[in-house]
Amino acid sequence: MIVTTKKLFEHAYGNYAIGAYNINNLEQIVGLFRGNLESKAPFIIQLSKGARSYTNKAFLEGLIRSADQVFPESIYAVHLDHGDEATCYDCIDSGFYSSVMIDGSSLDFEENIAVTRRVVDRAHAKGIVVEAELGQLGGVEEHVNVSEANAKLTNPETAKEFVERSGCDSLAVAIGTSHGAFKFSGTQALHFDVLAQIQNRLPNFPLVMHGSSSVPQDEVARINAAGGKLGGARGVDPEQFKPASKLGVCKINIDTDGRLVWTRVHREFFLEHPEKFDLRDPGKVYMAEYAKFIAQKNVYLGSAGQLEDVRKFING
Ligand code: G3H
Ligand code: 13P
Ligand code: ZN
Repeated sequence: MIVTTKKLFEHAYGNYAIGAYNINNLEQIVGLFRGNLESKAPFIIQLSKGARSYTNKAFLEGLIRSADQVFPESIYAVHLDHGDEATCYDCIDSGFYSSVMIDGSSLDFEENIAVTRRVVDRAHAKGIVVEAELGQLGGVEEHVNVSEANAKLTNPETAKEFVERSGCDSLAVAIGTSHGAFKFSGTQALHFDVLAQIQNRLPNFPLVMHGSSSVPQDEVARINAAGGKLGGARGVDPEQFKPASKLGVCKINIDTDGRLVWTRVHREFFLEHPEKFDLRDPGKVYMAEYAKFIAQKNVYLGSAGQLEDVRKFING
C-alpha cells in the first residue's frame, strides 16, 4: 500500500525514523520489499533523477506496481529524491508518487523558498507532500573552523521562516553528513547541537537526514579483498539514528550502503566462481543479502516491528 510520507512521519515522530532507500533495478526492489516485510517495517522508496533515467522511469514504476501485488502487506511511500522543479512536476503529474523532494539547497534563501513554494502549491493540489532542503550537505569535519562549518550547516534561525513561507511538509537539514562513501576524513562530526536548535524552533515538524550510509568497515574490507579499491571510505555510525530520531528526524536516507552490498556480492561471487556467467546466480545472492541488510538497518532506525501499528494508525 502506497501512503504519503506525512502519515508515516506522524506515526514515527520522536520515536523512530523511517528508512528511505534508493532503488534502481529489479533486484533492489525485491530485496527491499522482502527485507522490510521480514523486519515488519514501513519504508520509503526513493527514486533519483539518475535512477529514473537509468533505463526509463516507466520500468521502475512498473516494477514497484508489481512488487505491490507480490507483497500486498507492505506499507511504503514512493518519493522523488533530489528533484529539480521540472522533475517534481513530472512526478506530481504522473499520479504515482506520494511525495517529492525539491532540492533548492544550492540556491539562495529567497530563491529556494520561491521554487519550493511553487512545487508545494502544485503538489498539495493533488494530495502529494513535499520535502525541501535548507543548508548544504558535505562533510563538515571537526578541524573545520566554526564559521566555515556554519556556512554549510542548516541555520536554525532561518529554518522556521523557510518552513513557514515555503509550506513544505518536511525539511532536509545539513548537520555534517555528506553523500557517498567518503564522508569523514577525520573524526565523525554530526552536529546534534544544531539539530536540537532546529527542533526547538520547529517542534513536531519532521526533519530528514540525507547522506546517512554507514559504510560498514567489514563491507569495505571484503570489497577490497575481492579486488576493490575503496581506501578510506567512512560513514555515519548507525547508533546515531535513534538519538537523531528523538530530535525530530523522521526519515533517514540510505543509498551508498546498498551499492556496497551489490559491489561486495558481485566481486566475491565472480572471484569464487570464475566459471559462471548466469546473471541470475549473483542476482539471487544479492536479493537475499540486500533484504538482510535492509532488515538490519531497520533495527538501528527503530522502524523494525512498527508495521502493524502503522497499519492500524493509517486505517484509523
Ligand atoms: O543523494 C543522492 C542519491 O545517493 C542518489 O544517487 O543520483 O547517483 O542516483 P544518484
Ligand atoms: P548516502 O550516500 O549516504 O547513502 O546518502 C543517500 C542520500 O542522501 C540520498 O538522498
Ligand atoms: Zn540525499
